[in-house]
Amino acid sequence: MRQLNTYLDQHKERFLDELLDLLRIPSVSADSAYADDVVKTAKFVAQSLRDAGADAVELCPTAGYPIVYGEKIIDPALPTVLVYGHYDVQPPDPLDLWNSPPFEPVIKDEKIYARGACDDKGQMYMHVKAFEMMMKNDCLPCNVKFMIEGEEEVGSDNLPPFLRANVEKLKADVVLVSDTSIIANDQPSITTGLRGLSYVEVEVTGPNIDLHSGTYGGAVANPVNVLCKMIASLHDEDRHITIPGFYDNVEVLSDEVRAEMGKRPFSLDAYKEYLNINDVYGEAGYSTTERTSIRPTLDVNGMWGGYIGEGAKTVLPSKASAKISMRLVPNQSSERITELFQKHFESIAPPSVRVKVSPHHGGEPAVTPIDNIGYKAAVKAMTATFGKAPIPTREGGSIPIVALFEEVLGLKTILMGFGLNSDAIHSPNEHYGLFNYYKGIETIPYFYEAFTELSNESAS
Ligand code: BES
Ligand code: MN
Ligand code: MN
Repeated sequence: MRQLNTYLDQHKERFLDELLDLLRIPSVSADSAYADDVVKTAKFVAQSLRDAGADAVELCPTAGYPIVYGEKIIDPALPTVLVYGHYDVQPPDPLDLWNSPPFEPVIKDEKIYARGACDDKGQMYMHVKAFEMMMKNDCLPCNVKFMIEGEEEVGSDNLPPFLRANVEKLKADVVLVSDTSIIANDQPSITTGLRGLSYVEVEVTGPNIDLHSGTYGGAVANPVNVLCKMIASLHDEDRHITIPGFYDNVEVLSDEVRAEMGKRPFSLDAYKEYLNINDVYGEAGYSTTERTSIRPTLDVNGMWGGYIGEGAKTVLPSKASAKISMRLVPNQSSERITELFQKHFESIAPPSVRVKVSPHHGGEPAVTPIDNIGYKAAVKAMTATFGKAPIPTREGGSIPIVALFEEVLGLKTILMGFGLNSDAIHSPNEHYGLFNYYKGIETIPYFYEAFTELSNESAS
């Protein structure tokens, strides 16, 4: 792997310039105004795979945005790594909070600022560049397949059917993903759990039109008042969720396991300072890291209704709405939780309003075991490049397809991400450290090498 360090050094600037070009294409999957750019991004990724030395590169059409596929099979007898990532990004708004335009990347304080810099263009592109390094230096130790999708940020609706239809094509020994975080630049970690998701939109309707709030106020239900009360009732005094059956199957971890998890470094003071909050808030009986990893949650993501323009308008609105996400933990099912929510939410509505619950996308939680050679290979790789062993951590975000890799392809997923929780993914001023970008490119070939070695050992 020595010669790779030299290659990385020599091509550092080009590796960065290429990523900046990729970041300039606004591949916002949620907003159809960007449709052409999303497809353009897929083509960019496909070309970069070809340039790096991949064969059979294609844009696989789906009912939505294409999936970029490419492979390098050097010997069918060798193990195969399936790399998954996504080339779509979150919408950039609110635009006025960005210090520089989201699709005009700038480097400041050794960080790349742009939408998608970390999630996931920067992290996905590390894999393309690591592959290029191994190809150009003739040291790719095993087979590799790339599957890069363009709809992760909108729920990956078209990916499960693609998996089911391409089980043979996607045959591999392990899935490798960089779309998660490490604890700190001097403390690597490997993500061993992701939460699932149920996402619903609710609408409360009162009178058939907006009314004068003086003439009618006090006698007719105000949907905004009612919706606030209904939402407030979804948590009790201890910040537990009140939906009957919500916690039914929730995985209960032993005190030993929780104590072990609690050893990961975490500074509550630094956390509060970073977020500019005086105190944290969450379910009684659990620590901050537990609240954001092993416990389920319910949050309003957006809420609207009535007059929100300039000045004051006296109006009793006809409708109020909210988007609500629930993060799920092992043994909760996204479909079941959505059902329970719907039933409960309808049941708590007063007779003076009508309620409509519309489910959006969902996804199942995933826990990845650490007693497999994929995990061991990631430990070896990160230990080699960080000079420090990584700690297993469970994270709060969701990558719904991970559960399906196991279910449909029978594959374990290794979540070897290089982002930081402070990278502001999904937020204004998203960024990705140059250190992290290059560290990822440096580490990935070690994973390939270790995985190939460990596969050989376990076969013999
Ligand atoms: N990369 C994130 C997931 C993530 C973030 C995992 C941080 C661990 C740490 C991914 O792109 C994402 O944002 N997923 C969505 C889910 C999707 C269904 C919209 C999420 O978690 O909200
Ligand atoms: Mn992502
Ligand atoms: Mn994301």
